[in-house]
Amino acid sequence: MYAMNAAEYNEKVMKGHFKKIYPVIARQIIERTGITAGHCIDLGGGPGMLGISLARQSNLDVTIYDLLPECVALAVENSREHEVHKRVTARQGRAEEMPFEDNSIDLVASRGSIFFWEDQQQGVSEVYRILRAGGWAYIGGGFGTIELLLEVQSQRANEPKWERERKERFAKNPPGHFETILADLGIEGVVERGDAGMWIIFRKPTTPL
Ligand SMILES: C[S@@+](CC[C@H](N)C(=O)[O-])C[C@H]1O[C@@H](n2cnc3c(N)ncnc32)[C@H](O)[C@@H]1O
Repeated sequence: MYAMNAAEYNEKVMKGHFKKIYPVIARQIIERTGITAGHCIDLGGGPGMLGISLARQSNLDVTIYDLLPECVALAVENSREHEVHKRVTARQGRAEEMPFEDNSIDLVASRGSIFFWEDQQQGVSEVYRILRAGGWAYIGGGFGTIELLLEVQSQRANEPKWERERKERFAKNPPGHFETILADLGIEGVVERGDAGMWIIFRKPTTPL
């Protein structure tokens, strides 16, 4: 999943050429969902920069949740570094089986992770289960804007494997694939594919389906 170990990814990628994308994506998520307070999960959050950016731009309490224990440790470290550790915690676990109560979460944000889940449908079903009525999910992958994508691409120009694998992941996971998952689960939502990424966006209805 990581072409390097998680600590190296944290230093070179998250704090390096990906640094600018997280605040931009966080802003887009907040603008789209209108969620600025409550409990947010950064699902498959890795070292946590999307969740940390969400916390910095809102009053949200954020749990960064990831499969890898080393990412959880880095997320805790990063949240201290960014001085949001009072509102940001980190937990280890799988998207397919989350330790959160039914109807308890205001926002699930997830970038660059769903493509790696063993059972994507089960993961999306779990997201729906833990969302409160009126809570939002914003799950997918992207770079915020086309300008930021081009900037990252130029910084990684010497890593053709990265660009090839990124394109392969998107080709293997077209919008129709996620639309089918939503339809199979009976979830009303949209899959938006733009130049800078692809996002599955849905809101749990305030009255039961
Ligand atoms: C490419 S990284 C993205 C990290 C971070 N969200 C970001 O945008 O920088 C994918 C992350 O998804 C996590 N992951 C993969 N499968 C998972 C699963 N089934 N449940 C939870 N996390 C998972 C990995 O451990 C990894 O940290």
